[in-house]
Amino acid sequence: MDRPTGDLTTLTLPADAYGIASAIDLLQAGEVVALPTETVYGLAARADSAAAVAKVYAAKGRPSFNPLIVHVADLRQANTLVRIDSRAQRLIEQHWPGPLTLVLPLKPGAKIAGLVRAGLPTLAVRCPAHPVMQAVIAGVGPLAAPSANASGRLSPTRAEHVEATLGGRIPLILDDGPSETGLESTIVSVTAHGVMLLRPGAIPAAALGVVAANDSNAITAPGQLPSHYAPFQPLRLDARTASRHEYHLGFGPVRGDLSLSASGNVDEAAARLFDLLHEAQASGRSGIAVAPIPERGLGVAINDRLRRAAADR
Ligand code: TXA
Ligand code: MG
Repeated sequence: MDRPTGDLTTLTLPADAYGIASAIDLLQAGEVVALPTETVYGLAARADSAAAVAKVYAAKGRPSFNPLIVHVADLRQANTLVRIDSRAQRLIEQHWPGPLTLVLPLKPGAKIAGLVRAGLPTLAVRCPAHPVMQAVIAGVGPLAAPSANASGRLSPTRAEHVEATLGGRIPLILDDGPSETGLESTIVSVTAHGVMLLRPGAIPAAALGVVAANDSNAITAPGQLPSHYAPFQPLRLDARTASRHEYHLGFGPVRGDLSLSASGNVDEAAARLFDLLHEAQASGRSGIAVAPIPERGLGVAINDRLRRAAADR
């Protein structure tokens, strides 16, 4: 972990039985793999492993933690993760498997790493129609997968596009030719007010009975809206020491009440960030202090998130 990106050998395999079995092995072991879906290629990791999900962010070089979509086998599997009311169920019956993503309330106890949701109380779920993605989900379980491109680059619709920006940063790409749709899934949330459009995509909003579109800021950066987060106690950054009224999150040589990474590894700190913030929030102390985190690798995204949390008053 914490290696400089770009030093891996990236294998591209055809998406046949051998390729699928290799992808399943790597994912089960906590690695990331680029997989074809009917919309665009996705960079997948086990949704229940914070360490695996941290590798997705590291490979993409994301400067902040956007919440990721979790890909499921079917309605039954989705039902183990999120609360599905009758309106959501109707949309699911009409459009799954396919390019419809629903943002729904997370069920307590669902085995989803906090980093997947970027700490939100909701989860985005989608059931892909692509047989290769389905075969891998059947072997591994729910998969978190953003588009398989480096941050800020175009979404990939061919294995070569993935190789162009993630080559050297991930171990495996499964090649199944060009994506059928070439456009990401439509994302909606189902609220008391009706169906809200969060991101236009492969299914036209009109087909979904959308009542309102969120503003464009919410579309690109839902995780960055303060209202999406539970209120925190005041948060103090760069804290080498803390008062007894503060819950202290450590890093490296700064021990704290709990450490984001005792060995000073930023990937490990990213994987633990949201879970430890929740611990700190539940501690009953009146403030949270966080040790300095270096601005390297995922440290950039961690500091971005912490600065937002500190500013959201
Ligand atoms: O077609 C697709 O959706 C592709 C393929 C790979 O399935 N995936 C994809 O993922 O486009 P990604 O990470 O590029 O887009 C995920 C977006 C986030 O940027 C965010 O806007 C939204 O989904 N999202 C995820 N979880 C959310 C949540 N809990 N609340 C609101 N929006 C959420
Ligand atoms: Mg994307």
